[in-house]
Amino acid sequence: MLLSEKTKYKLSEYATSLLRLFPAELAHDLGVFFLKHNVQKFIPRPSFLPSLDLSMEVETLGAFAHPIGLAAGFDKNGVAICGLNDLGFSLIEVGTVTPKPQAGNSKPRLFRQYDQSGLINRMGFNNAGVAAMKSRLLEGDYYEKGLRLGVNLGKNKDTPVDLAIDDYLHGLRETLNTALYFVINVSSPNTPGLRELASSDFLRRLAGEINSLGSEVLAKVWVKVDPDMTKSDFQVLIDCIAHIGFGGVILTNTHSVQYPHKGGQSGHPLGIISSLRLEWTYEVAKGSLPVIGVGGILSGGDILQKVMRGADLVQIYSAMIYRGPWVVQKLLMELEWELKNYGFGSLREAKNTHYG
Ligand code: FNR
Repeated sequence: MLLSEKTKYKLSEYATSLLRLFPAELAHDLGVFFLKHNVQKFIPRPSFLPSLDLSMEVETLGAFAHPIGLAAGFDKNGVAICGLNDLGFSLIEVGTVTPKPQAGNSKPRLFRQYDQSGLINRMGFNNAGVAAMKSRLLEGDYYEKGLRLGVNLGKNKDTPVDLAIDDYLHGLRETLNTALYFVINVSSPNTPGLRELASSDFLRRLAGEINSLGSEVLAKVWVKVDPDMTKSDFQVLIDCIAHIGFGGVILTNTHSVQYPHKGGQSGHPLGIISSLRLEWTYEVAKGSLPVIGVGGILSGGDILQKVMRGADLVQIYSAMIYRGPWVVQKLLMELEWELKNYGFGSLREAKNTHYG
């Protein structure tokens, strides 16, 4: 049966509306289950072919046909990588994974904020542990097949902060040959003490240890930063990350809130906050530090705003929940329209233009 592009988008919206009938975490688990079993193959895929060049190049990661990646936390255990790849992401970050499996916080721990396309979560790194992740990544052979994968690494809840370095090193050693890049997550608000590790001292010590794994490893390691530091603390940290020689920064993780639920807020309410962190970063690093922009991207226009503020690539999470399985195609179509509207001939041309 021949379906119009509009009907294909409509069908994917129905799929999203169906999932909304379920509580937020169950809907998420169902989404991951469907992707694990390749159910996306039964939802007709829109065929958007951009007429403008939407490719981006990241010094430490290589070239990408378009900038949209999947943020960490959606596929915490790396179980749905093929399905997610089918959705058209140009990079997929799995995790956060911790050395030992852990259950995370008690439920309910994920809440939708429909009125503002937002989410609040306090999942607390529920995951099956790094050994399970490693065997799945090796079994899928994704890295060898050229899939652009990142592994986001965290510490176990019961690991004291002064031993946290061992958790990150363990995660890195275990997954080193299974992915393109690795992320030191010192920014989730739901693991007590984790954000204390977002310090120059900790990152310097960690980098020293990472260097002993091989001279080329540090450039594959990115740091994911939270949006809740003061401007001066944030800029000191960015300056340190740039000088140490990490592969880049991911800006940002969720914003810590107490109301209407305690946890990390993502989606639209995070957009302006995380984009301002791109501006703070540019002030310090002047474009020399690779940046993945994440937080509040729900439209193609939001992507353009991140790229104009210095993002080399972007990632999405909440938009998957609010805009459905073909969100990448929708965002690319809107991004192209926005670029034409601004008079840009390609996405690369738009980079850093916010700064004149
Ligand atoms: C997240 N995020 C996240 N980040 C991370 O580094 N490790 C993780 O395990 C998780 N887990 C997680 C769970 C849930 C339910 C959500 C909504 C988010 C944060 C995520 O990667 C991203 O930084 C934020 O969600 C902001 O992007 P969006 O959602 O505004 O596009």
